[in-house]
Amino acid sequence: MSGLIHFPLGFAWGAATSSYQIEGAALEDGRGESIWDRFSKTPGKVEDGTNGDVACDHYHRFREDVALMKRLGIKHYRFSVAWPRILPTGRQKVNQAGLDFYGRLVDTLLEAGIEPYATLYHWDLPQVLQDEGGWARRPVVEAFVEYSRIVARALGDRVKKWITHNEPWCTSMLGYQEGRHAPGLKDWSAALAASHHVLLSHGLAVPVIRSESPGAEVGITLNLTPAEPASPSAADHDASRHFDGFFNRWFLDPVFGRHYPADMVADYIAAGHLPPEGLTFVQPGDLEAIAAKCDFLGINYYSRAVLRNGKVPEEKNEPRTVHVAPEREWTDMGWEVHSDGLRELLLRIHLDYRPRKIYVTENGASYATPPNAEGRVPDEQRLTFLRDHFLAARRAMDGGVPLAGYFVWSLMDNFEWDRGYSQRFGIVWVDYRTQQRIAKDSALWYQRVISENAVPV
Ligand code: NOJ
Repeated sequence: MSGLIHFPLGFAWGAATSSYQIEGAALEDGRGESIWDRFSKTPGKVEDGTNGDVACDHYHRFREDVALMKRLGIKHYRFSVAWPRILPTGRQKVNQAGLDFYGRLVDTLLEAGIEPYATLYHWDLPQVLQDEGGWARRPVVEAFVEYSRIVARALGDRVKKWITHNEPWCTSMLGYQEGRHAPGLKDWSAALAASHHVLLSHGLAVPVIRSESPGAEVGITLNLTPAEPASPSAADHDASRHFDGFFNRWFLDPVFGRHYPADMVADYIAAGHLPPEGLTFVQPGDLEAIAAKCDFLGINYYSRAVLRNGKVPEEKNEPRTVHVAPEREWTDMGWEVHSDGLRELLLRIHLDYRPRKIYVTENGASYATPPNAEGRVPDEQRLTFLRDHFLAARRAMDGGVPLAGYFVWSLMDNFEWDRGYSQRFGIVWVDYRTQQRIAKDSALWYQRVISENAVPV
């Protein structure tokens, strides 16, 4: 039997991108250097040796990209603002040309009937701020709040949805502890301090954005990964608890007005990642600031983690946990496909933290399916992936989750950080030689989902 699973009226179907991953024009109109320019040009850091200098050339082609979204019926677009375009030296000296670019983008979106959702930080920190220690040091907090004020003042009459940070776990842990992302440090104490400064800058920016953009909704986007023990053993349960604390609760708890999780503080002290005194970077008033009430929580969901306790040489993030998963389907990123994890995650966040509203600000899959002889891109796997995840989200809504919208990652193929251009997440194919765009089959299917506000089954 075939039918349609309907979504509530007004459900926000969207697509997402980020500045460094699509814009290119790295040296134009006064843009300053970002940590990703520096990092990607350091040999060995990006798998295929590429960088974001040109990327999808969106800086020059944004009108065409907005027109494409309009044709696909996408009415909600999440993009990020590049801090080094606005403040090339991190603070103080505003580069008007940078603000003007986003002003033109926002106007073009609004003319096309597309609502802009602006993310203020999607990883491209001005390099000059990194030279003073970046997120590991406290002065960056004030700089972020100042930057947020400038952008919200310039765009806040037209942008009414704001996301302070994208994936603080990645900023702090991939950037300062694992070293896989810019700035490429491998230092636990820097990473934990960075996580705090990112969250503090979020909390302090919330009221500032509200005051500059009356009536706006403000939130933060966290990447959350449900953790499951690989076996019923107490040791595996403990590994799962630890991973959940490291990945999810470390960020959720303070944002929702709880302290940093005590079990994790104890684990980090025991592991020598924190001094015996604990969270020395937390100052009086910080936790109150981080707990600033948000209008929504953004969730990026890609997969789950299945955990077994043990010490193995290939472990990356933590000495006490390893990822294992049963024989399953994997995307080109090597991530397990597990759609029901999205339902479980949304329900858990709703029940444990009660955000006023939730958006899935990213979900999608990397599959490299190229254009065929007729010039079509038959990305059946992505289409199935999206369909199953949309349906999982719908089931969560049946359970009472206040999910207001869903952004596919990504509008188009782009620069996938340390994986370069080899990973393609787009619902639109990008030919990097010609910059031609081709809507993949998944995009044409998504067009139908949006127009019917329903998922065909
Ligand atoms: C999360 C990040 O926000 C985005 O930049 C990245 O491309 C996707 N996940 C896929 O890894």
